[in-house]
Amino acid sequence: MKATEPLRPEPATVLEVITETTNIRTFRIAFDDPALAESFSFLPGQIGQLSIMGAGESTFALSSAPSRRGSFDFSVMKTGVVTSAIHELSAGDRVAVRAPMGCAFPTDDWKGKNIVLVGGGIGMAPLRSLLFYLLDNREDYGDMTLVYGARTPGDLCYAEDRRDWESRADLDFAATIDTACAGWDGCVGLVPSVVEEKAPSPENAVAVTCGPPIMIKFALQSLDKTGFREEQIYTTLERRMKCGIGLCGRCNLGPKYVCTDGPVFSLAELRELPDEL
Ligand SMILES: Cc1cc2nc3c(=O)[nH]c(=O)nc-3n(C[C@H](O)[C@H](O)[C@H](O)COP(=O)(O)OP(=O)(O)OC[C@H]3O[C@@H](n4cnc5c(N)ncnc54)[C@H](O)[C@@H]3O)c2cc1C
Ligand code: FES
Repeated sequence: MKATEPLRPEPATVLEVITETTNIRTFRIAFDDPALAESFSFLPGQIGQLSIMGAGESTFALSSAPSRRGSFDFSVMKTGVVTSAIHELSAGDRVAVRAPMGCAFPTDDWKGKNIVLVGGGIGMAPLRSLLFYLLDNREDYGDMTLVYGARTPGDLCYAEDRRDWESRADLDFAATIDTACAGWDGCVGLVPSVVEEKAPSPENAVAVTCGPPIMIKFALQSLDKTGFREEQIYTTLERRMKCGIGLCGRCNLGPKYVCTDGPVFSLAELRELPDEL
C-alpha cells in the first residue's frame, strides 16, 4: 500500500537517526497512521519524497529492506537547503512523506542470473535496498558480487550492514577506498579498477551501478571491458523533481520522465535518450 493521495504528503515521525559519515545520515521513519505504517510496501529502486515543514521537499531512494514492515529508511547526503534541514532532525521529529514512487529494479527478470552490484558514495542507498531484497530471496539468484567504494574509510556508509556482508559466504563483497591509509587493511583502488580486477563473468549476469556520474562513467567502461553488454547493465538517474508522479514535466529526459519511467533504467534504454551517459 502507498500513501493514499500521491500529491498529499502523509504525516510521519523520525524513529532513529544513524550517522553514516560526516555528511550522510540515515533516517528511520514510520508513518503516523498505524494501518499505513504496517501496510506500506515498496520495491528496491523506488523513491520517496521527504518534506520538512518550512524547508521543502526532496527526493530520496528508499534504502531499507523492502521486507521490513513498520518503518523505512532514507539515507541523505547534506547538499543544500532541504537536506541541511533534514540533517537537523532528531528521533521524535515530525516529517511528511510521499512514497513509494518510480519504477523498481526488474528483479523478477533477473531470477536465475548472477548479479554484480557496483556502488559509490551515496549511490549505495538504492543498492542497499536491492541487496537486502536479493539476500532475502537468495535462492532465486546465482553468484552475487558487490563492489562498494568511497574516498576514505570514514566515507563508507552502513558499517553494521558491511560487517554482515563481509561475513557472508554467499556474497563476494569488496569495500574499497581511493588511496591507502593507516588502519585500513581492506581493498584499495577506485571502484572501476576493482571491478576490472574481480572481472565478474558476463555470462548469464546483470550488473547494476549507482554512484557519482564520474564513477558510473568509468564503471561502465570497466564492465564493457569485462564483456557486459548494454542490455545487461542498469543504473538509477537523478533529476530535480517536483510532483514525482508524471504531471509537472520537471524531470523529463527526452520523451521519458525520470519519476515515472525511472529512476531505474537499463544502459540500452539510456543510449536512446538525449545527453545521458
Ligand atoms: C531519483 C532520485 C533519487 C535520489 N536519491 C537520493 C538519496 O538516496 N540520497 C541523497 O542524499 N540524495 C538523493 N537524491 C538527491 C537529492 O534529491 C538532492 O540532493 C536534494 O534534493 C538536494 O536538496 P537541497 O534542497 O538540500 O539542495 P539545494 O539547496 O536545492 O541544492 C544544493 C546543491 O545540490 C544540487 N542538487 C539539488 N538537487 C539535486 C539533484 N536531484 N540532483 C543533482 N544535484 C542536485 C544543486 O544543484 C546544488 O548544487 C536523489 C535525487 C533523485 C532525483
Ligand atoms: S517530477 Fe513531475 S513529471 Fe517528474
